[in-house]
Amino acid sequence: MDENVPLVIPEVNPEAMAHVKLGSGKGALIANPNCSTIICLMAVTPLHRRAKVKRMVVSTYQAASGAGAAAMEELVQQTREVLEGKEPTCNIFNQQYAFNLFSHNAPIQLNGYNEEEMKLVKETRKIWNDKDVKVTATCIRVPVMRAHAESVNLQFENPLDENTARDILKNAPGIVVVDDRASNRFPTPLEVSNKDDVAVGRVRRDVSQDGDYGLDIFVCGDQIRKGAALNAVQIAEMLL
Ligand SMILES: *[C@@H]1O[C@H](CO)[C@@H](O)[C@H](O)[C@H]1NC(C)=O
Repeated sequence: MDENVPLVIPEVNPEAMAHVKLGSGKGALIANPNCSTIICLMAVTPLHRRAKVKRMVVSTYQAASGAGAAAMEELVQQTREVLEGKEPTCNIFNQQYAFNLFSHNAPIQLNGYNEEEMKLVKETRKIWNDKDVKVTATCIRVPVMRAHAESVNLQFENPLDENTARDILKNAPGIVVVDDRASNRFPTPLEVSNKDDVAVGRVRRDVSQDGDYGLDIFVCGDQIRKGAALNAVQIAEMLL
């Protein structure tokens, strides 16, 4: 969040690092946003560019990989233990993770939000260069190995209907639309695991809002790839 350090998602705000050049003789830092922010903004930014987001409500379903390899191992071990009727071993998390879900383990701040939730708020404002966009989030850890899912509710300044939104997403870089209502097939963390693209589906008009000013979408992205390593590699590639 240092104002002199660009916070970059290459598909979203490459302009933020335009002044950084290799071989300038001076060191420079470019920061990778948090995994939940990257995955969310990959899907929401193309819609934001068209209709301008006024308010965004995010609920996350986050994978074990966000807490590191040891957390992934703990989930496997606990699953085995629970199936064998044993007490689950809790080293990384302080409660049972297998066959359960809980509020993200990041520290809770004075305002009652945890750090991961506040990163979604602050990083979105910084990346979009929009101090006024309203963002709120609830981050939950679910017993999934390595891809995050996010339910995102959007309120726009300008109208945007669901078919136009789907077309915008189909043409957005790094996005794949999985939105098959007839067979009830939508993005899943398993299907995006080990893949670069972020999947979006459940694109629908929010019936709680008037006209075409609100949409609900469901997003899944690999936490290790686009949520971390791939994004960093893409930043490095932009410098070459
Ligand atoms: C995202 O933020 C949380 C909370 O600060 C942190 O625990 C986690 O390591 C971060 N993840 C990434 C990929 O930056």
